[in-house]
This record gives sequence, structure tokens and C-alpha cells, in this order.
Amino acid sequence: MPIEEKVGKTLAELGVADAQGVEALFAEVRAAMEKEREELIVRAPSTEKERGQLCKALRDRWLARKNGLLTQVHEHWLEPASKELRPVVGKNFNMLRQAAASLETAELLEAVPVGIRKVFADRIEPKDSVSIEKGPLDLTLPGYRRPLGSLHPVTRMQREIEEIFLSLGYWIEGGPEIESVYYNFDALNIPETHPSRDDWDTLYIDATTLLRTHTSPVQIRAMKKYGAPLYIIIPGKCYRHDNPDSSHSPMFHQIEGLAIDRDITFADLKGTLDFFARKLFGEKIRTRFQPSFFPFTEPSGEVAISCTLCDGQGCPVCKESGWVEVMGCGMVHPEVLRNGGIDPARYSGWAFGLGVDRYALMKYGINDIQLLFQSDVRFLEQF
Ligand code: PHE
Repeated sequence: MPIEEKVGKTLAELGVADAQGVEALFAEVRAAMEKEREELIVRAPSTEKERGQLCKALRDRWLARKNGLLTQVHEHWLEPASKELRPVVGKNFNMLRQAAASLETAELLEAVPVGIRKVFADRIEPKDSVSIEKGPLDLTLPGYRRPLGSLHPVTRMQREIEEIFLSLGYWIEGGPEIESVYYNFDALNIPETHPSRDDWDTLYIDATTLLRTHTSPVQIRAMKKYGAPLYIIIPGKCYRHDNPDSSHSPMFHQIEGLAIDRDITFADLKGTLDFFARKLFGEKIRTRFQPSFFPFTEPSGEVAISCTLCDGQGCPVCKESGWVEVMGCGMVHPEVLRNGGIDPARYSGWAFGLGVDRYALMKYGINDIQLLFQSDVRFLEQF
């Protein structure tokens, strides 16, 4: 006998004569109600209007004052119930009424989200909005947690270095990582026979294209673009044919510095780099300039700072020397100025290049460059 028919009869007519029978009967009614509610949700009406109609139909069927199923239960089961059965019928009727509240909620839950779900669907799952449309949406669930990230140690280091030069009036310039052989080598006065051109050192894409091995090609690009005077730093990724180990990575980061103006001398180079080292590593730091060689600078130098760990006394980090080499530098070669379209008779300049990753290792006391690029959150979380 379907529910609608049962609620039209009295308990006596249904043959229910004890508390157990009453409990069982009400359990059946509650189950029927729950099933109908669930069916509505599963059917997932696709339009606002359709859902409204279905919700209303369900609510009317159960809750309508006149002839709703609950009203009939009240009328046919509770009112005429015998003295003995009345308490248990009353209790179960109240439970049924409470459970019926979910029919109201069904409407609420289903009605509000449609609009919201549309927005969500388009935003998060543009390809598969159907799956979102279908399921019931519980607005009381907590949202997706997006843990806050932090800057990568290399990025931090880079920004710190940039800040110092920005405060001196330099600006930041960039260039391509896929570079031509011309800009990476030729224009920088690097001879055809130079060993760095070897494909044991350089990653070539084809005979005339490569992954830049340093940020120096951007010197030429910037000179051509802006002319002189020019005060820039150039941060960026570089690539070399190196096997990864604790101090080498085939991809690494450099910052190049370039200052071109009238009457720039080696004193400007020394003064600026000494200021930079003290700003970055602390006032106690001393700098040491040693002669070196780069084809694109003349004279060229190697800058070392007093070891930050032992203050120049000698320790394993500075290999007992008291000094740590931190960059290459020099006065821009006249040929390089010419290649950049600047007249070396009128202008002179100085340049430097440093490895940002090594600075980060030093600054944060990390002993393996590989750790920087493995993207292990347990490592990165520490910064
Ligand atoms: N480009 C050089 C390198 O990668 C560094 C450098 C830049 C040296 C500018 C002098 C001047 O080693």
C-alpha cells in the first residue's frame, strides 16, 4: 500500500495496535520522505524554474496544510489514537515534523547555489561544469585552503642586490635566455677560439643560437637600445653544459652590472663594489681586488670579500684563505663599447657579473646548490 493511501486510514484500519507497530509505521514514512528528498537532489534540475517547481511540489505533498501527508498523519493517526498509543504516536509525529524541515532546507540549498554554482563552474571548471551543477552544494563546508607561499631564497637574494643598485640610481634591464652566438660571444670580443665557445661548455640550439652562458650579452643589447650614459643591472637565468653537483647547476642565476658615462674610471668600479659589498654583507666586510682576465673588460678583476664566517681568519668555507671570491669585473673593453654603438673616445664604463645562487648559499648557510632547484617544499618552507 503506498504512503498516500496509508495516511488516509486510521491506525486501527491499518491493523497497528501496539507501540512497536507505530514505530515501524513512522519509520517507513520517514524513509519515504527522505527518499523523495534525495531523488530530487539527484535529479539535479538544471534550471532555476524547474528546481523551484520540483521543490514546491515536494513540499506541498508533505507539508500542505490541507491534505498534505503530514496533515493527514495528524488527522488520521494522531487524533483518533487510543490513550495507550497516543504518547508514542505523538513522539513519532514530532520526529516526522522535524525531519520534514529538511524539505525546506532542500529548497534553500538547491535554490541559492544555482547562481553561485554557475559562477563557480565557469571559474574553476570551465570544461566540466556539469559535475558541479549536479552535486548538492553544502555552503557550510570550509573553503579551499590555499597555503601562503614565500619568496624563493634566490629571488630574495636577487631582490636584495637589486635594491642596493636601485638606491644608487641604476635600473633593471632584461634580455633573452635564448641568445644568438653574436651577442653571447662575438659582440663581447670573445675570440673564435675561446674555450668557452666549445659545446662542452655551451648549450647550443643550432650553429647560431644558444642558451646564454652569462648575462653579459645584455650589455650590448642595452647599449644599442639606450646609448650612453647608462647605469643598469641585469638579473637573469644562464645556462652552461655543467654536470649538476653541490656547487654547479646547468641553470643558474647571474646579475650583471654596467655603468657607462663620461670619465668613468677604475676608482668608480672599486668604490661602487666596495659600497655594495658592505651594504650586502655588513660594514665590517673588506673587499680585495685581484687582476684577472675577461675578453670583454680591460683591465679585468676578481673581487673577493673577507670571509663572513671567520672574518678573514681562515676556515673550511674560505679554504683557510680568509677570502671568498664573489664576482668578476673590469673596465668595459673599447671594442665592446663600439659593438654597442658607443664611442670609446667619449665614454668609458665598468661592468661586473656575479652568481646569485652562490650568494644565496653563502647568505643562508646552504651547502648544496642543488637544494635550490629541487622544489622540495620542506626545504623551501624554511625561508
Ligand atoms: N660574464 C662574466 C662571467 O660570466 C662575468 C663578468 C661580467 C666579468 C662583467 C666582467 C664583467 O663569468
